[in-house]
Amino acid sequence: MDVLDHILEEHEKFREMASAVESSEGKDKIKLFRQLYAEVKGHHEAEEHVVFPDVKAQVEGEDLELVKEMVEEHSLGGYQFSVLERTSVENDTWDAKFTVLVEVLDHHMEEEEQEFIPLAREALSKSELEAKLQAFEDTMKKYVAEMQKKLKD
Ligand SMILES: [Fe+2]
Ligand SMILES: [Fe+2]
Repeated sequence: MDVLDHILEEHEKFREMASAVESSEGKDKIKLFRQLYAEVKGHHEAEEHVVFPDVKAQVEGEDLELVKEMVEEHSLGGYQFSVLERTSVENDTWDAKFTVLVEVLDHHMEEEEQEFIPLAREALSKSELEAKLQAFEDTMKKYVAEMQKKLKD
């Protein structure tokens, strides 16, 4: 298992978590939404801190633009998460806002899976990618905990 295999597994988990938010209501919906918010935030931070910099250093031109695009998509997703967090789940636009979030995340994960991951596999060696797994998990844990605390306040 290397860091990219781990990222793929997490994407599958996020897809399931998003469906669970869609099919729940009231307090459960808020709880599941916040879980997804914290985990995706941690995942994005871990990608940006542990994986993207070394890939960026190895690529140029369009490939470099792709990595920059991944970061911009993280901000876009983060923005929509924050809008949802500020909107009451009783508001009749909440579900539509969440659908837009899922569209942004789905697009991002697909691009990461189809374009970024193959690029990262070329840029970094298998042993480098394996060595990054622990740092990814540690970084993610730190940011998930930070976000969970923020969402409770
Ligand atoms: Fe990802
Ligand atoms: Fe990402």
